[in-house]
Amino acid sequence: MTIVHEVRDEPAAGVPERRITVTVNGARRVVECEPRLLLSHLLRQGLRLTGTHMGCDTTNCGACTVLLDGTPVKSCTMLAVQADGHEVTTVEGLATASELHPVQEGFREEHGLQCGFCTPGMMLASKALLDRDPDPSEEDVRWALSGNLCRCTGYQNIVKSVLWAAAKLRSEREDQ
Ligand code: FES
Ligand code: FES
Repeated sequence: MTIVHEVRDEPAAGVPERRITVTVNGARRVVECEPRLLLSHLLRQGLRLTGTHMGCDTTNCGACTVLLDGTPVKSCTMLAVQADGHEVTTVEGLATASELHPVQEGFREEHGLQCGFCTPGMMLASKALLDRDPDPSEEDVRWALSGNLCRCTGYQNIVKSVLWAAAKLRSEREDQ
């Protein structure tokens, strides 16, 4: 059992902490935190999973997207205590020790990475799409990523990356 205490510069006096259990990237984590702690802060500061990026803190950009029981959520808009008893997947949980996830491969193959800041959230939203729809259209991909902003340039290569991953996953399934 791992107990992680949230790091704060100045702990708020008199605010009782809550103990929560969250499975993060397959590992059960027991955490003590203030009820007001955001899930994004728990992940980044508490668990040191800094692949979850913070772009706006106001639910607009999607850089902080993680999966909660397989569904994309914006972790800057959720309290850590709301994840109690649930499974969270961050970008660190996509690859295995030896292999990238097909979505990650797709971003590499089709140059979906530009500055990379939005990329973790894009990848997790894409994984959720491909988990529920193995053969999405370009329009489906654009709709699934509509909550994730990339400020660099266009979205063309990002969409191509997701379609590449979809094709790879389908061919892997056919080979099984
Ligand atoms: S940091 Fe969460 S939506 Fe932008
Ligand atoms: S790659 Fe730069 S914001 Fe998306």
